[in-house]
Amino acid sequence: MIDNPARDREFTFTKAHFDKVRGELYDYAGIVLADSKMDMAYNRLVRRIRDLRISSFDEYFQHLEREPLEFTQFVNALTTNLTAFYRERHHFDFVEKEIIRDLKARNIHKLRAWSAGCSLGEEPYSLAMTIRDAGVDLASWDVKILATDIDSKVLASAQSGVYAMDRVKALETGLIHRWFLKGKGRNEGMVKVRPELQEMIKFGHLNLMSDWPIDGPLDFIFCRNVMIYFDQPTQLKLLNKMADLLKPDGYLFVGHSEALARHASRFELVGKTIYRKVGG
Ligand SMILES: C[S@@+](CC[C@H](N)C(=O)[O-])C[C@H]1O[C@@H](n2cnc3c(N)ncnc32)[C@H](O)[C@@H]1O
Repeated sequence: MIDNPARDREFTFTKAHFDKVRGELYDYAGIVLADSKMDMAYNRLVRRIRDLRISSFDEYFQHLEREPLEFTQFVNALTTNLTAFYRERHHFDFVEKEIIRDLKARNIHKLRAWSAGCSLGEEPYSLAMTIRDAGVDLASWDVKILATDIDSKVLASAQSGVYAMDRVKALETGLIHRWFLKGKGRNEGMVKVRPELQEMIKFGHLNLMSDWPIDGPLDFIFCRNVMIYFDQPTQLKLLNKMADLLKPDGYLFVGHSEALARHASRFELVGKTIYRKVGG
């Protein structure tokens, strides 16, 4: 027998409901939900409907219109936040071996980076650890990592720097000792990143579809596994804005399945999913 999730649903969720959801999400966040994501949208939003003790998607949309704060919950529910410490290790090796080494060689002790779509924080904290482990001494260097996301819930979690031990278990023991504090008592099984790493990062809410109040120029931008949710015109617009923010020879790191080649005229590919700005 063919599965029919629609038949088993607790609340009626029609194609018109789905179109309303994806229309709102696209207009605000630029995120495109393909037809295949209908079940995902239902499953994510139905939790809100249950929590709010309302009885239908029509009622939920009315609530969404009346309560601006609900819109934050709506967006938080629909973003995909998958991430990990040192995800795509070769990117962090490049930061250490190319970018920091080059700054040192040129006697430049200033570094500006942006983790755009930082999710739960593993990405900016991995950058902070990479920078410190590369021998960057904060007494003589001026380092700032900006970490932003549209999802206020993951951002709050990122800012706290607290993770389940499970999230760090694949890291080398030495690295865990250097950069994490182990929870005791009721915090058993949790770790917290050391304050000296947290001080290197400024977390903030930023929708990539809105203005970017960011001071450039930046040495590099990590925007990984974010643009994959956007359509091509949106990607092109963002790539241009990122190029404007980067130093003349600044770098952009994207996710493993994101090929910018077709519309990245302001960037050249210099490594696996690593781009360098061209043309000043
Ligand atoms: C799959 S996670 C990637 C996390 C991290 N960059 C990585 O590669 O491990 C994608 C993140 O992009 C964020 N995002 C999606 N649309 C966004 C937008 N319009 N503005 C800012 N962040 C957005 C999501 O909230 C989510 O946390």
